[in-house]
Amino acid sequence: MINKKVALVTGASSGFGQLTAHLLAQEGYCVFGTSRKQHSASQGVEMLTLDVKSDESVQSCIKQLLAQTNRIDLLINNAGQIHASVIEETSLEQAKDIFETNFWGVVRLTNAVLPTMRQQRSGHVINMSSLAGLVGAVGQGFYSASKFALEGYSEALSVELDPFNIKVSLIEPGYFKTNFNHDMSQATSTYADYDTVREVLPSSISQVIAHGDNPEKVARMILRVAQSQSPRLRYRVGNQAWLPALRAILPDSLFRLSARKFLNLP
Ligand SMILES: NC(=O)c1ccc[n+]([C@@H]2O[C@H](COP(=O)([O-])OP(=O)(O)OC[C@H]3O[C@@H](n4cnc5c(N)ncnc54)[C@H](OP(=O)(O)O)[C@@H]3O)[C@@H](O)[C@H]2O)c1
Repeated sequence: MINKKVALVTGASSGFGQLTAHLLAQEGYCVFGTSRKQHSASQGVEMLTLDVKSDESVQSCIKQLLAQTNRIDLLINNAGQIHASVIEETSLEQAKDIFETNFWGVVRLTNAVLPTMRQQRSGHVINMSSLAGLVGAVGQGFYSASKFALEGYSEALSVELDPFNIKVSLIEPGYFKTNFNHDMSQATSTYADYDTVREVLPSSISQVIAHGDNPEKVARMILRVAQSQSPRLRYRVGNQAWLPALRAILPDSLFRLSARKFLNLP
């Protein structure tokens, strides 16, 4: 019988997920991380194979975890993927693929752990959102839409789970320097009207991530949220945390201009 708190962190092979998993292990949690590829345990984190897009993979991952621990206290839905393409040049298939990971992946994992958390009458689900879940992100329209969906889902879920003493929180980072820009899907169909935007968009998005904040800030915030006795629903983190407030007060035309300027779009 495990007497430590049990945490599962999806997407723990790099970036926020890896840093968070290591930090939780240092703080005495029993930590399981996931990746689509096989990894051996490192720094106190046991790695499980998981593709959040697959029902079978999610079922098998949670079954494996519960067979060892018989409980789960913390689920961190962190796995995510991005694209760098304007909405019109992004195929429906690409858009659905983004939602499969960023939204339905979270739903799959959460559904798989909730029966155990309800039985325990305790637990905490922390979902990795983004400032792009609060303000539409140019050139990342479907990524942004998937995070907006996650925001609404998490807010409703947090209220529904109140009677069972299960908490739900959202982490809303701005741009952070991780490997997130290494695997960005790009335009599949092209229209000449977007040629000049397409020429700069992937490198502009890649650059803002490459010059982003230190991801350890996010890991430390997640630890703080996980350890809080009364966690809030939303936590913004990073240098652009003021963005939603600015969005609310700037005139639309000015906001649109600055959104293009931020990514050097013509
Ligand atoms: N970096 C930023 O600026 C930023 C800002 C706001 C929000 N975020 C969010 O932060 C989260 C983590 O991103 P990161 O910046 O840390 O990027 P990262 O370093 O690229 O990490 C992404 C992780 O997601 C995993 N992953 C991707 N698709 C998966 C799938 N289908 N099934 C299981 N795991 C999958 C990857 O694991 P494998 O490839 O090993 O399977 C990897 O561990 C994402 O949800 C992202 O939306 C990032």
